[in-house]
Amino acid sequence: MLNGGFPTGHVVLLLGPPGVGKTCLSLQFLQKGLDQGERAVYLSLEEDPEALQAAAGEFGWPLAPAIKDGRLKLTRLDPQDANNSLKRIRSELPRELQAFAPRRVVVDSVSLLAALTSDEGERRGILFTLTRACRAAGATTVLTAEADPLHPEVSRDGMSEYVADGVVVLGPTEDLPRHQAGLALRIVKMRRTSHVRTRQPYTIGPGGITVDAKAVNFGAF
Ligand SMILES: Nc1ncnc2c1ncn2[C@@H]1O[C@H](COP(=O)(O)OP(=O)(O)O)[C@@H](O)[C@H]1O
Ligand SMILES: [Mg+2]
Repeated sequence: MLNGGFPTGHVVLLLGPPGVGKTCLSLQFLQKGLDQGERAVYLSLEEDPEALQAAAGEFGWPLAPAIKDGRLKLTRLDPQDANNSLKRIRSELPRELQAFAPRRVVVDSVSLLAALTSDEGERRGILFTLTRACRAAGATTVLTAEADPLHPEVSRDGMSEYVADGVVVLGPTEDLPRHQAGLALRIVKMRRTSHVRTRQPYTIGPGGITVDAKAVNFGAF
């Protein structure tokens, strides 16, 4: 769909409601890099590292060896612990990312950054700081975000799509002719890249997400 994956150095937003596989696709993106011997960082605001490792293990991607090798850092940022998390994002993380120089970074999910402050300008600042640090480190970055329930192709925070070079919308669909509920994704934007614009069905299975590149889903999200 993308002629060879997410473009190097891009910040790509995976947007969708809960349960559509954003975390799964993030882990798949990470694992692809680990398989190639790359260094990677997973910043989790949602799930704790043990739960993530368990989820990845279910898909057949054991993370422990890469953590042990020092090639993978699973970092938990607790949205409840706003002071600490803000401090980390503003001062320590940019330095850590610069020093570690990961090829791939995941931030899951940026929607929870909203919990760190009620000031909208400050929230925008945090998101910019974080994505700037990922870009500066030379990484290709995946951000996940919750979609606005009323507008499935818009993020709930209304700003994540603007810091991203690419946006992939994921959501449940109904294949009306066959009366089957399923999942589909659409690449809404991918700067400097030619890409498919149709909505493609996908499944979540033992090896992660598989996109059916041939079938087109003509329904609505
Ligand atoms: N090992 C697995 N095999 C098949 N499907 C799975 C597996 N683990 C999770 N899923 C599916 O993935 C969904 C959750 O995906 P997840 O990436 O956590 O979603 P999100 O991050 O968008 O909330 C579950 O609802 C389930 O349908
Ligand atoms: Mg998730």
